[in-house]
Amino acid sequence: MAARTGCGTLGLGAAVLLLAACMGATGQAAAAGCPALCTNCTAAGKCTACESFDSTTGRSMSLDKATGTCVVCPALCADCTSAGKCLMCQPQDWITGRSVAMDKVTGACVLCPVNCWACSSATRCTLCAQSDIHDRALYLDPASGTCKACPENCEKCDSKGRCTKCEYSDYRTGRTLTLDAATNTCLQCPERCATCPGGKCSRCLAGSYRDADGSCKACPELCAECKLDPGSKSPTCLRCDDFWAEYPAYWDEPDEWDFPVYMDKQGNCQKCTNNSWKGGCTRCNQSGRCVECHDH
Ligand SMILES: *[C@@H]1O[C@H](CO)[C@@H](O)[C@H](O)[C@H]1NC(C)=O
Ligand SMILES: *[C@@H]1O[C@H](CO)[C@@H](O)[C@H](O)[C@H]1NC(C)=O
Ligand SMILES: *[C@@H]1O[C@H](CO)[C@@H](O)[C@H](O)[C@H]1NC(C)=O
Repeated sequence: MAARTGCGTLGLGAAVLLLAACMGATGQAAAAGCPALCTNCTAAGKCTACESFDSTTGRSMSLDKATGTCVVCPALCADCTSAGKCLMCQPQDWITGRSVAMDKVTGACVLCPVNCWACSSATRCTLCAQSDIHDRALYLDPASGTCKACPENCEKCDSKGRCTKCEYSDYRTGRTLTLDAATNTCLQCPERCATCPGGKCSRCLAGSYRDADGSCKACPELCAECKLDPGSKSPTCLRCDDFWAEYPAYWDEPDEWDFPVYMDKQGNCQKCTNNSWKGGCTRCNQSGRCVECHDH
Protein backbone atom coordinates (compact mmCIF):
# COMPACT_ATOMS: atom_id res chain seq x y z
CA MET A 1 0.00 0.00 0.00
CA ALA A 2 1.28 3.40 -0.90
CA ALA A 3 2.15 6.10 1.62
CA ARG A 4 0.41 9.30 0.68
CA THR A 5 0.72 12.84 1.85
CA GLY A 6 -2.09 15.39 1.86
CA CYS A 7 -1.17 16.30 -1.69
CA GLY A 8 -2.07 12.86 -3.01
CA THR A 9 -5.81 13.18 -2.89
CA LEU A 10 -6.91 16.31 -4.67
CA GLY A 11 -10.40 17.72 -4.84
CA LEU A 12 -11.59 18.46 -8.35
CA GLY A 13 -12.13 22.18 -7.94
CA ALA A 14 -8.82 23.52 -6.67
CA ALA A 15 -6.96 20.62 -8.18
CA VAL A 16 -4.71 22.54 -10.52
CA LEU A 17 -3.83 25.11 -7.86
CA LEU A 18 -3.17 22.39 -5.34
CA LEU A 19 -1.05 20.54 -7.82
CA ALA A 20 1.02 23.66 -8.42
CA ALA A 21 1.42 24.10 -4.66
CA CYS A 22 2.37 20.48 -4.16
CA MET A 23 4.85 20.51 -6.98
CA GLY A 24 6.32 23.72 -5.66
CA ALA A 25 6.60 22.30 -2.18
CA THR A 26 8.11 19.08 -3.36
CA GLY A 27 10.42 20.63 -5.89
CA GLN A 28 13.05 20.81 -3.17
CA ALA A 29 15.95 18.39 -2.98
CA ALA A 30 15.53 15.12 -1.15
CA ALA A 31 15.91 15.25 2.62
CA ALA A 32 19.54 15.43 3.73
CA GLY A 33 21.24 12.08 3.51
CA CYS A 34 18.21 10.39 1.86
CA PRO A 35 17.95 8.85 -1.62
CA ALA A 36 16.38 10.83 -4.45
CA LEU A 37 12.64 11.66 -4.14
CA CYS A 38 12.67 10.74 -0.41
CA THR A 39 11.39 13.28 2.03
CA ASN A 40 12.41 11.17 5.02
CA CYS A 41 14.48 8.06 5.50
CA THR A 42 16.03 5.81 8.10
CA ALA A 43 19.65 6.01 9.13
CA ALA A 44 20.25 3.06 6.82
CA GLY A 45 19.01 5.16 3.88
CA LYS A 46 15.62 3.54 3.43
CA CYS A 47 12.86 5.91 2.42
CA THR A 48 10.00 6.29 4.91
CA ALA A 49 8.23 9.06 3.00
CA CYS A 50 8.23 10.20 -0.62
CA GLU A 51 7.53 13.41 -2.43
CA SER A 52 3.90 13.65 -3.53
CA PHE A 53 4.78 14.27 -7.14
CA ASP A 54 7.71 13.62 -9.38
CA SER A 55 8.41 17.20 -10.43
CA THR A 56 9.67 16.29 -13.90
CA THR A 57 6.64 14.23 -15.00
CA GLY A 58 3.98 15.50 -12.57
CA ARG A 59 3.15 11.91 -11.74
CA SER A 60 2.19 10.76 -8.26
CA MET A 61 4.72 8.95 -6.08
CA SER A 62 4.28 5.94 -3.86
CA LEU A 63 6.50 4.40 -1.20
CA ASP A 64 7.59 0.82 -1.63
CA LYS A 65 7.87 -0.09 2.03
CA ALA A 66 9.64 -3.41 1.41
CA THR A 67 12.59 -1.91 -0.41
CA GLY A 68 12.32 1.58 1.07
CA THR A 69 12.28 3.25 -2.34
CA CYS A 70 9.98 5.77 -3.97
CA VAL A 71 8.01 4.61 -7.00
CA VAL A 72 6.63 6.86 -9.71
CA CYS A 73 3.01 5.89 -10.44
CA PRO A 74 1.71 5.40 -13.99
CA ALA A 75 0.34 8.39 -15.89
CA LEU A 76 -2.95 9.88 -14.61
CA CYS A 77 -2.74 7.68 -11.53
CA ALA A 78 -3.14 9.22 -8.08
CA ASP A 79 -2.13 6.23 -5.99
CA CYS A 80 -0.34 2.99 -6.86
CA THR A 81 1.26 -0.07 -5.37
CA SER A 82 5.02 -0.46 -5.23
CA ALA A 83 4.68 -2.74 -8.25
CA GLY A 84 3.26 0.18 -10.19
CA LYS A 85 -0.35 -1.07 -10.24
CA CYS A 86 -2.71 1.87 -10.10
CA LEU A 87 -5.13 1.88 -7.16
CA MET A 88 -6.90 5.16 -7.87
CA CYS A 89 -6.90 7.44 -10.87
CA GLN A 90 -6.73 11.22 -10.78
CA PRO A 91 -10.22 12.72 -11.18
CA GLN A 92 -8.96 14.69 -14.15
CA ASP A 93 -5.94 15.48 -16.25
CA TRP A 94 -4.49 18.65 -14.72
CA ILE A 95 -3.28 19.95 -18.09
CA THR A 96 -6.35 19.48 -20.29
CA GLY A 97 -9.05 19.29 -17.60
CA ARG A 98 -10.38 16.12 -19.24
CA SER A 99 -11.94 13.52 -16.95
CA VAL A 100 -9.93 10.41 -16.14
CA ALA A 101 -11.24 6.89 -15.57
CA MET A 102 -9.73 3.51 -14.88
CA ASP A 103 -10.07 1.17 -17.82
CA LYS A 104 -11.55 -1.98 -16.28
CA VAL A 105 -9.81 -4.23 -18.78
CA THR A 106 -6.28 -2.86 -18.69
CA GLY A 107 -6.37 -1.25 -15.24
CA ALA A 108 -4.75 1.85 -16.73
CA CYS A 109 -5.96 5.40 -16.16
CA VAL A 110 -7.27 6.80 -19.41
CA LEU A 111 -8.56 10.14 -20.62
CA CYS A 112 -12.31 10.16 -21.19
CA PRO A 113 -13.60 11.37 -24.58
CA VAL A 114 -13.94 15.16 -24.97
CA ASN A 115 -16.95 16.84 -23.34
CA CYS A 116 -17.35 13.79 -21.11
CA TRP A 117 -17.63 13.84 -17.32
CA ALA A 118 -17.52 10.12 -16.67
CA CYS A 119 -16.49 7.21 -18.85
CA SER A 120 -15.90 3.49 -18.66
CA SER A 121 -13.03 3.56 -21.15
CA ALA A 122 -11.17 6.01 -23.36
CA THR A 123 -13.82 5.61 -26.04
CA ARG A 124 -17.03 5.12 -23.98
CA CYS A 125 -18.58 8.04 -22.22
CA THR A 126 -21.24 7.35 -19.57
CA LEU A 127 -22.05 10.94 -18.58
CA CYS A 128 -21.68 13.97 -20.82
CA ALA A 129 -20.67 17.45 -19.70
CA GLN A 130 -23.47 20.02 -19.67
CA SER A 131 -22.23 21.87 -22.75
CA ASP A 132 -19.32 22.11 -25.15
CA ILE A 133 -17.00 25.10 -25.60
CA HIS A 134 -19.52 26.71 -27.94
CA ASP A 135 -22.09 26.49 -25.13
CA ARG A 136 -24.16 23.92 -27.01
CA ALA A 137 -26.04 21.38 -24.91
CA LEU A 138 -24.75 17.81 -25.24
CA TYR A 139 -26.29 14.37 -25.41
CA LEU A 140 -24.80 10.90 -25.15
CA ASP A 141 -24.94 9.04 -28.41
CA PRO A 142 -25.40 5.43 -27.27
CA ALA A 143 -24.07 3.95 -30.50
CA SER A 144 -20.71 5.69 -30.46
CA GLY A 145 -20.45 6.30 -26.71
CA THR A 146 -19.48 9.90 -27.39
CA CYS A 147 -21.07 13.23 -26.52
CA LYS A 148 -22.61 15.12 -29.38
CA ALA A 149 -23.99 18.61 -29.62
CA CYS A 150 -27.77 19.16 -29.51
CA PRO A 151 -29.30 21.29 -32.27
CA GLU A 152 -28.89 25.03 -32.07
CA ASN A 153 -30.97 26.92 -29.48
CA CYS A 154 -31.77 23.61 -27.83
CA GLU A 155 -31.33 23.18 -24.07
CA LYS A 156 -32.07 19.45 -23.89
CA CYS A 157 -32.24 16.73 -26.50
CA ASP A 158 -32.81 13.00 -26.45
CA SER A 159 -30.41 10.16 -27.27
CA LYS A 160 -31.20 10.58 -30.96
CA GLY A 161 -30.29 14.27 -30.87
CA ARG A 162 -33.90 15.42 -31.13
CA CYS A 163 -34.62 18.58 -29.21
CA THR A 164 -37.01 18.18 -26.27
CA LYS A 165 -36.57 21.60 -24.67
CA CYS A 166 -35.58 24.90 -26.22
CA GLU A 167 -33.52 27.66 -24.68
CA TYR A 168 -35.54 30.69 -23.60
CA SER A 169 -34.34 32.90 -26.42
CA ASP A 170 -31.96 33.06 -29.36
CA TYR A 171 -29.02 35.15 -28.15
CA ARG A 172 -28.42 36.64 -31.61
CA THR A 173 -31.95 37.73 -32.46
CA GLY A 174 -33.21 38.07 -28.87
CA ARG A 175 -36.40 36.30 -29.98
CA THR A 176 -38.17 33.92 -27.66
CA LEU A 177 -38.08 30.29 -28.75
CA THR A 178 -40.75 27.63 -28.89
CA LEU A 179 -40.43 23.89 -29.49
CA ASP A 180 -42.14 22.60 -32.59
CA ALA A 181 -43.21 19.14 -31.38
CA ALA A 182 -43.70 17.82 -34.91
CA THR A 183 -40.15 18.52 -36.08
CA ASN A 184 -38.35 18.75 -32.71
CA THR A 185 -36.88 22.06 -33.75
CA CYS A 186 -36.79 25.39 -31.95
CA LEU A 187 -38.75 28.05 -33.73
CA GLN A 188 -38.33 31.76 -33.21
CA CYS A 189 -41.40 33.54 -31.90
CA PRO A 190 -42.50 36.73 -33.64
CA GLU A 191 -40.79 39.91 -32.49
CA ARG A 192 -41.62 41.10 -28.93
CA CYS A 193 -43.61 37.95 -28.30
CA ALA A 194 -43.13 36.12 -24.98
CA THR A 195 -44.73 32.77 -25.83
CA CYS A 196 -45.92 31.35 -29.12
CA PRO A 197 -47.18 27.78 -28.88
CA GLY A 198 -47.55 26.37 -32.39
CA GLY A 199 -45.90 29.51 -33.75
CA LYS A 200 -48.82 31.79 -32.83
CA CYS A 201 -48.10 34.51 -30.33
CA SER A 202 -50.19 34.09 -27.19
CA ARG A 203 -48.59 36.77 -25.05
CA CYS A 204 -46.51 39.87 -25.73
CA LEU A 205 -43.33 40.67 -23.79
CA ALA A 206 -43.49 43.14 -20.90
CA GLY A 207 -43.35 46.69 -22.23
CA SER A 208 -45.16 45.62 -25.40
CA TYR A 209 -48.77 45.69 -26.54
CA ARG A 210 -50.85 43.71 -29.00
CA ASP A 211 -51.46 45.75 -32.13
CA ALA A 212 -54.63 45.55 -34.28
CA ASP A 213 -52.85 43.20 -36.72
CA GLY A 214 -52.00 40.81 -33.86
CA SER A 215 -48.31 41.66 -33.71
CA CYS A 216 -46.54 42.82 -30.56
CA LYS A 217 -45.27 46.38 -30.60
CA ALA A 218 -43.17 48.33 -28.14
CA CYS A 219 -44.92 50.63 -25.68
CA PRO A 220 -43.95 54.31 -25.92
CA GLU A 221 -40.69 55.39 -24.33
CA LEU A 222 -40.66 55.27 -20.49
CA CYS A 223 -43.93 53.36 -20.47
CA ALA A 224 -43.79 50.00 -18.67
CA GLU A 225 -47.24 48.72 -19.54
CA CYS A 226 -49.69 49.79 -22.21
CA LYS A 227 -52.64 48.58 -24.24
CA LEU A 228 -54.42 49.42 -27.41
CA ASP A 229 -58.02 50.42 -26.93
CA PRO A 230 -60.43 49.11 -29.60
CA GLY A 231 -60.62 51.56 -32.49
CA SER A 232 -57.58 53.45 -31.26
CA LYS A 233 -54.45 53.94 -33.35
CA SER A 234 -51.94 54.44 -30.57
CA PRO A 235 -51.61 52.63 -27.25
CA THR A 236 -52.61 54.02 -23.89
CA CYS A 237 -49.95 53.89 -21.22
CA LEU A 238 -51.19 52.21 -18.05
CA ARG A 239 -48.02 52.48 -16.01
CA CYS A 240 -44.76 54.37 -16.46
CA ASP A 241 -41.28 53.08 -15.69
CA ASP A 242 -40.37 53.88 -12.09
CA PHE A 243 -37.08 55.49 -12.93
CA TRP A 244 -34.97 56.66 -15.77
CA ALA A 245 -31.24 56.29 -15.33
CA GLU A 246 -28.78 58.56 -17.05
CA TYR A 247 -26.05 56.11 -16.05
CA PRO A 248 -27.77 52.74 -15.74
CA ALA A 249 -26.51 50.84 -12.74
CA TYR A 250 -25.86 47.12 -12.65
CA TRP A 251 -28.22 46.69 -9.75
CA ASP A 252 -31.96 47.32 -9.64
CA GLU A 253 -32.09 49.72 -6.72
CA PRO A 254 -32.62 53.32 -7.82
CA ASP A 255 -29.85 55.72 -6.83
CA GLU A 256 -29.11 59.46 -6.99
CA TRP A 257 -28.22 59.24 -10.66
CA ASP A 258 -31.74 58.09 -11.50
CA PHE A 259 -34.63 60.40 -12.28
CA PRO A 260 -38.22 59.53 -11.44
CA VAL A 261 -40.65 59.12 -14.30
CA TYR A 262 -44.12 60.58 -13.99
CA MET A 263 -47.27 60.48 -16.08
CA ASP A 264 -48.34 63.92 -17.25
CA LYS A 265 -51.94 65.06 -17.61
CA GLN A 266 -52.01 63.82 -21.22
CA GLY A 267 -51.06 60.30 -20.09
CA ASN A 268 -47.51 60.47 -21.42
CA CYS A 269 -44.53 59.36 -19.37
CA GLN A 270 -41.96 62.07 -18.69
CA LYS A 271 -38.58 62.22 -17.02
CA CYS A 272 -38.65 64.38 -13.94
CA THR A 273 -35.29 66.04 -14.46
CA ASN A 274 -35.94 69.35 -12.78
CA ASN A 275 -33.75 68.28 -9.87
CA SER A 276 -30.05 68.17 -9.19
CA TRP A 277 -28.71 64.63 -9.28
CA LYS A 278 -27.40 64.70 -5.74
CA GLY A 279 -30.04 64.36 -3.05
CA GLY A 280 -32.44 64.03 -5.93
CA CYS A 281 -36.09 63.39 -6.24
CA THR A 282 -37.88 60.08 -5.75
CA ARG A 283 -41.36 61.09 -6.92
CA CYS A 284 -42.90 63.82 -9.04
CA ASN A 285 -46.51 64.85 -9.46
CA GLN A 286 -48.41 65.20 -12.72
CA SER A 287 -46.98 68.68 -13.30
CA GLY A 288 -43.42 67.40 -12.99
CA ARG A 289 -42.90 68.93 -9.57
CA CYS A 290 -40.89 66.96 -7.10
CA VAL A 291 -43.09 65.91 -4.19
CA GLU A 292 -40.71 63.49 -2.48
CA CYS A 293 -36.94 63.55 -2.05
CA HIS A 294 -34.22 61.08 -1.13
CA ASP A 295 -33.93 61.12 2.65
CA HIS A 296 -30.19 61.76 2.63
C1 LIG B 1 11.28 11.16 9.79
O1 LIG B 1 10.97 9.90 10.32
C2 LIG B 1 11.27 9.74 11.68
C3 LIG B 1 11.07 8.30 12.08
O2 LIG B 1 9.89 7.78 11.48
C4 LIG B 1 10.43 10.71 12.49
O3 LIG B 1 10.73 10.61 13.87
C5 LIG B 1 10.71 12.12 12.01
O4 LIG B 1 9.85 13.03 12.68
C6 LIG B 1 10.49 12.21 10.51
N1 LIG B 1 10.89 13.56 10.05
C7 LIG B 1 10.11 14.30 9.29
C8 LIG B 1 10.68 15.62 8.87
O5 LIG B 1 9.00 13.94 8.93
C1 LIG C 1 -47.73 69.54 -8.24
O1 LIG C 1 -47.15 70.15 -7.11
C2 LIG C 1 -47.13 71.55 -7.17
C3 LIG C 1 -46.37 72.06 -5.95
O2 LIG C 1 -46.77 71.40 -4.78
C4 LIG C 1 -48.58 72.07 -7.22
O3 LIG C 1 -48.57 73.49 -7.32
C5 LIG C 1 -49.27 71.46 -8.44
O4 LIG C 1 -50.61 71.84 -8.47
C6 LIG C 1 -49.17 69.97 -8.39
N1 LIG C 1 -49.75 69.45 -9.61
C7 LIG C 1 -50.63 68.44 -9.60
C8 LIG C 1 -51.17 68.04 -10.89
O5 LIG C 1 -50.99 67.92 -8.57
C1 LIG D 1 -38.15 73.66 -12.35
O1 LIG D 1 -37.31 74.43 -11.51
C2 LIG D 1 -37.45 75.83 -11.67
C3 LIG D 1 -36.43 76.53 -10.80
O2 LIG D 1 -35.80 75.69 -9.91
C4 LIG D 1 -38.90 76.24 -11.33
O3 LIG D 1 -39.06 77.61 -11.48
C5 LIG D 1 -39.88 75.47 -12.20
O4 LIG D 1 -41.21 75.74 -11.81
C6 LIG D 1 -39.62 73.96 -12.09
N1 LIG D 1 -40.46 73.25 -13.04
C7 LIG D 1 -41.26 72.24 -12.64
C8 LIG D 1 -42.06 71.58 -13.72
O5 LIG D 1 -41.36 71.86 -11.47
